[in-house]
Amino acid sequence: MVARSYTVAFEGVEARSVEVQCALSPGVPAFSIVGLPDKAVSEARDRVRAALAAMAIALPAKKVTINLSPADLPKEGSHFDLPIALALLAAIGVIPAEEIEGTMALGELSLDGSLVPVIGALPAAVAAADSERALVCPSACGAEAAWVGTAKVIAAATLASVIQHFTGQSPLSPAKPGEVTEDRTFRDLSDVKGQERAKRAMEIAAAGRHHFLMTGSPGSGKSMIAARMPSILPPLTPSEALETSMIHSLAGLIDEGGISRSRPFRDPHHTASMASIVGGGRGAKPGEVSLAHNGVLFLDELPEFSRPVLETLRQPIETGEVVVARANAHVRYPCRFMLIAAANPCRCGYLADASRACAKAPICGEDYLGRISGPLLDRFDLRLEVPAVSIADLDMAPSGEASASVAERVRHARERQANRYKDAQGLHLNADAEGQTLNEVAAPDPEGRDLLAKAADRFGLSARGYHRVLRVARTIADLAGEEHVRKPHVAEALSYRITTMRID
Ligand SMILES: Nc1ncnc2c1ncn2[C@@H]1O[C@H](COP(=O)(O)OP(=O)(O)O)[C@@H](O)[C@H]1O
Ligand SMILES: [Mg+2]
Repeated sequence: MVARSYTVAFEGVEARSVEVQCALSPGVPAFSIVGLPDKAVSEARDRVRAALAAMAIALPAKKVTINLSPADLPKEGSHFDLPIALALLAAIGVIPAEEIEGTMALGELSLDGSLVPVIGALPAAVAAADSERALVCPSACGAEAAWVGTAKVIAAATLASVIQHFTGQSPLSPAKPGEVTEDRTFRDLSDVKGQERAKRAMEIAAAGRHHFLMTGSPGSGKSMIAARMPSILPPLTPSEALETSMIHSLAGLIDEGGISRSRPFRDPHHTASMASIVGGGRGAKPGEVSLAHNGVLFLDELPEFSRPVLETLRQPIETGEVVVARANAHVRYPCRFMLIAAANPCRCGYLADASRACAKAPICGEDYLGRISGPLLDRFDLRLEVPAVSIADLDMAPSGEASASVAERVRHARERQANRYKDAQGLHLNADAEGQTLNEVAAPDPEGRDLLAKAADRFGLSARGYHRVLRVARTIADLAGEEHVRKPHVAEALSYRITTMRID
């Protein structure tokens, strides 16, 4: 007889259904697992055997074969322990086979039979709901899995309590979803003194999800300003929160099952490896770009990141999706983020200050910023040189606007965009508008068009640059609550494109 239980194998945020079959056959006692298991899955054998022994359940003196089907799908991770144990327990008649047929399971076993939390409970619960099964998982994962709402989630602390549940000795009640958390303890934009243009650019970036690059000497407040982006962004919508949490679940970042409605803000250090930024490595984990999905990716000291990392970023920025290679497959993760980057003008940082600049100035500046390739630089709709703040300015009492009122304008501008694009597939914000749609929604008035043509002529604006100016102008008009893009909007948008850095 073949007993069956069900679990999932992860391919990016997709959880693919896996059938765990257990057959007992006469022969020399043995325990084998087939169906492309990785090392952690193969080791399940020893953990399952020990956990059963801890409950004084003896394996039969037969050949035990576990098959993970479909056989050509790679199986990674330790969450296969529980479904393997369940299939085995059904095969030897400890629990009724029909009970586990309607259940999906995931969880790691420790040698004493307790269940250890695993990553991916949230996508697994989505897969369970899709196949109309209940999900059995470790207690620590219950609150997270229960979030899906459409799947019944049974969370257990030990294998023994799972057995008692299925044999009807002591049924477990369904797990409850964790709390919705929303971190509102942001650092406020009003802490930043002066720097009005940078704050304005932050507002435009937030409203239209435009990528934003700041250059300027050290200590001018670039990192400080960028860190305040979450304070002016609207909270995640419920569907965005679920999408982002699925990725965080795979990275094991969901604390106590709580789903966060705060937009992620990820700021990896420039020494971070390729795998940690774009994803990959063991288990093809999501990288920082995907953890920033629906939120902000802040790359401070942009030219210091390794060249291959910077070049690899181009594709995900454009497509909102990253493809991570692993042993014999590719996995895809979503990564629609707002990129904020900051750079000093040169290595020592004092290019603009003749009294402090190093001997290599001004060549060093070109070398330094030259590390950011043209195509990457081109992805930034907004570019700004942030001047140093004077001591006199720093001495003033904070007079700037608080984040809350900026956030309110951003919210309105986003509402206008949601309205405008409500019938457009996959298009929500101005930064994603392209081609014909962009030409229609951002067509400037005659004076605006005239100004754009002159600027294109004088500064050699490329076709791509031209479209980026239009997108930003559309966002500026949305912030002003205006139906049509006019000359002042175009003029302001142009000012974020033409900097002394490079023009295109
Ligand atoms: N405009 C400003 N308003 C208030 N404090 C500032 C401002 N600019 C810089 N500072 C102070 O200087 C520190 C360094 O700024 P930082 O953001 O790290 O500069 P950068 O990233 O441009 O090198 C900040 O932590 C803050 O205390
Ligand atoms: Mg800094």
